[in-house]
Amino acid sequence: MKPKIYITRKLPANLVNQLSSQFDVRMWEKEDVPVPKDVLVEEIKHVDGVISLLTEQIDKEVLDQAHKLQIIANMAVGYDNIDVDYAREIGIIVTNTPDVLTESTADLTFALLMATARRIVEANDYIRNDQWDNWGPYLLAGSDIFGKTIGLVGMGRIGQAVARRAKGFGMSILYHNRNRNLEAEEELQATYTSFEALLANADYIVSLLPLTTETRHKFNKPAFDTMKQSAIFINASRGQVVDEEALFNALHSKQIKAAGLDVFEAEPIRSDHPLVNSPNVVCLPHIGSATIETRTKMIQLCVDNMKDYFFGEGPITPINK
Ligand code: GLV
Ligand code: GLV
Repeated sequence: MKPKIYITRKLPANLVNQLSSQFDVRMWEKEDVPVPKDVLVEEIKHVDGVISLLTEQIDKEVLDQAHKLQIIANMAVGYDNIDVDYAREIGIIVTNTPDVLTESTADLTFALLMATARRIVEANDYIRNDQWDNWGPYLLAGSDIFGKTIGLVGMGRIGQAVARRAKGFGMSILYHNRNRNLEAEEELQATYTSFEALLANADYIVSLLPLTTETRHKFNKPAFDTMKQSAIFINASRGQVVDEEALFNALHSKQIKAAGLDVFEAEPIRSDHPLVNSPNVVCLPHIGSATIETRTKMIQLCVDNMKDYFFGEGPITPINK
């Protein structure tokens, strides 16, 4: 009997078809709408493997229904949507998609930093709204990037890739991480600091933290209070590492200057979200890794993890071995 797989979103046929000779594949047939939890719970009862997206909360309640499940291949580098500790406890392997998305995500992070610093979105709206009547000395004047100090909170693969871009812009690089990264210090002349010293000294504070119980609301009122008034905050990791109310207050009281956000505490957000309606905020709908090339590689890695787990030498990128 072929192993049974459930795919929680409609993915391209050319990728899914690579599984069809070796697996019984079922798939949620919508591309832009996540599978409802009750459908997921019903499907997961019968399968050996799941390919999931970060929109699926695979918690204890779901895992307790997964009587045959052996592997979850999550199409993301982050895996806070899955109760990984419980999965490990009941013998389910979880894989993610590291490496293939590093450079695309670093590109987007830097683009968001630049767009925020130079007020690109506001400037585009300025023309679209027919506000451009004149040129002025400080019209849409933003903040310099070249030669400034970037503070990377989280120095994993993506943090290092952002640091390489920052180096090209003549920036000084501070970083904070759970562990020191001596390789990054040598290659990029990055300086390790405490979280507080980074907040106090960086012109650009960039969060690349995974979401864990330790990092939830790490960017809170005391953190924003520690930043310079000229500081620009960028989040390209997970929304829940930020206390959004504290961020909103910091922006509106001019405690910090601006923010660029690719992620939010409760996604998706709508246009009435308080942070969307601030002129000094650039908001994006969680598109860090969203290039056609990278998303294709991420799906391919999920497919390859399935094949190698059931028919090869084991999963390629397990996170909870
Ligand atoms: C996206 O946010 C990811 O974790 O890959
Ligand atoms: C993710 O790939 C990271 O380590 O930053």
